[in-house]
Amino acid sequence: MTQISMSGVTVEFGDTVILSDVTFTVGAGEKWGVIGRNGTGKTTLFNLVTGAVQPTQGGVVRSPGLRMTLLEQHRDFGDATTVWQAVAGAFEHLLDLERSLSEQSSRIGELGEAATPAMLDRYAHDLERFEREGGYEVTARVDAVLHGLGFDPMDARSKRLDTLSGGERGRVGLARQLVAPADVLLLDEPTNHLDLETTEWLEGYLRGTSATVLLTAADHPIAPCRSPRSDTSGCDARLEVDARTVALIYCADWRHVERLCSTRATFWSARHTELLASR
Ligand SMILES: Nc1ncnc2c1ncn2[C@@H]1O[C@H](COP(=O)(O)OP(=O)(O)OP(=O)(O)O)[C@@H](O)[C@H]1O
Ligand SMILES: [Mg+2]
Repeated sequence: MTQISMSGVTVEFGDTVILSDVTFTVGAGEKWGVIGRNGTGKTTLFNLVTGAVQPTQGGVVRSPGLRMTLLEQHRDFGDATTVWQAVAGAFEHLLDLERSLSEQSSRIGELGEAATPAMLDRYAHDLERFEREGGYEVTARVDAVLHGLGFDPMDARSKRLDTLSGGERGRVGLARQLVAPADVLLLDEPTNHLDLETTEWLEGYLRGTSATVLLTAADHPIAPCRSPRSDTSGCDARLEVDARTVALIYCADWRHVERLCSTRATFWSARHTELLASR
């Protein structure tokens, strides 16, 4: 099922053509690499996908109701004050409920026989609500993503956002994006703040997700990856690029996604203004 399609899209900022005659489709669950050097238009392509930028010419179609998340470059975490709240985003209230359940359970334990029916009723009611809203799954997911991206999930419940370094905020932003419910993940240079261990964790996460993934990699070199126009199933097609091109690389299998995350390999791209997109 096609989720996103562009046809004949051109974007001009003033007199400068950033993208020219871009045509491609992205199907559900597909994984694509968006490759290009700094300033070539990768983020602009993502902004076209989300609708934040309108094409000068051509059209962008998204399937109705598509849930997309884009890693926010400016890291707006809303009202969150702790790392856990920032990552949980829309599910933040479940942390309050989890905390309240834990307090109620300790209190009931201390009181033993003296616990009142009203206290027991409230506990049962809140526990049922926590389960119904997917509390166990969501808290486990937030904890797993935090752990994978190098945070201690228990510490994260009290760690204040305003004590974080820039790199740590970057990882919180990525964790928040991965936790949010989405059909399409637009990952704009997600490995910027990751070390080898967390990069490997991200690779594994992307391998396991059923969501559609578009992932940019900037000036860092990219491993050989199957060209969308290549008939071969291997990763033996190579393309030389000039400095002004964005290429879209269809990842035929997960090895290629791993290589997209990697920062050490051969740079890939396509001819100027030719976005490698049609399959
Ligand atoms: N709203 C805008 N108005 C004018 N020029 C813009 C606008 N957005 C982007 N540009 C220009 O378009 C070009 C492409 O920008 P874009 O951010 O898409 O590149 P990028 O490939 O994501 O770069 P980087 O690797 O540095 O993130 C740049 O020259 C940028 O200055
Ligand atoms: Mg960019």
